[in-house]
Amino acid sequence: MNAEETDEMILSPMNLFDIFDHSQTHSRRGWIKHFMFGSVGSTSGIALMLAEVTEAAQPGPGRLRLRVTDYPALESVGGSVQLQFSSIYDPLTINRVSNTEFATLDSICTHAGCTVNKFIAADGYMLCPCHGSQFDARGQVVSGPAEENMKAFPTTYDAAAGTIEVTVPDLGLNINSIQVQSKTGGVTRFKLVFQATAFATYEVHYQGQLGGSSVLTPFSRTPTGNATQTSLVANDSAAFTVYVDASGDRGFFNVSMKLTSI
Ligand code: FES
Repeated sequence: MNAEETDEMILSPMNLFDIFDHSQTHSRRGWIKHFMFGSVGSTSGIALMLAEVTEAAQPGPGRLRLRVTDYPALESVGGSVQLQFSSIYDPLTINRVSNTEFATLDSICTHAGCTVNKFIAADGYMLCPCHGSQFDARGQVVSGPAEENMKAFPTTYDAAAGTIEVTVPDLGLNINSIQVQSKTGGVTRFKLVFQATAFATYEVHYQGQLGGSSVLTPFSRTPTGNATQTSLVANDSAAFTVYVDASGDRGFFNVSMKLTSI
């Protein structure tokens, strides 16, 4: 089975996808069997974009998974961070409401659209610098002129893993498909298509095994080009394609979106 193998699998957001050893006898279902569910913490400033191998073809909402220890402010109740993932979108604000609860907000003031400051525990609210509206750590109005609460995104906390998972409906964090592009010698080239958000920066990372360390992996933007590029800035909200090479028997790739803490 040489170049241009066309067995494509559709991936839905989150979880890891096992992309190796998809050898002569595999079938689409075989691929699915190889899938191993697992969670992986992020490296600092990186939101992992993971994908689950399922037969559900529909991409779903993007999910960010963040490791709390990567954002020291979030290790304390009342801590708050704002994460910028694209120069054209408002940041997300993540507040630690209690030992077990985090709130993620879109940072947009419901009065006239200004960006609300992060939560200040000593004040007990987030301040909108434009006209002084105040919101509590869950984004609920404390005082106006804003009358509506801030938009919040579903956020769960896995205390054992030390990770927060945020679901953002329109965030480009979906892996659309992966397929074997070619096999040359011991190297398999994979074509990875993912949904990106405009002006966000993406990287590809590789892990030899679940839970292992993740390393930045170069990729090519063309099917036969050398895999030397290490990041990609999406010039639009659209599907992007990268090609990565793998030489081991097994491993995991994930696409990561860079986050900037502001
Ligand atoms: Fe926030 Fe007016 S825009 S108070």
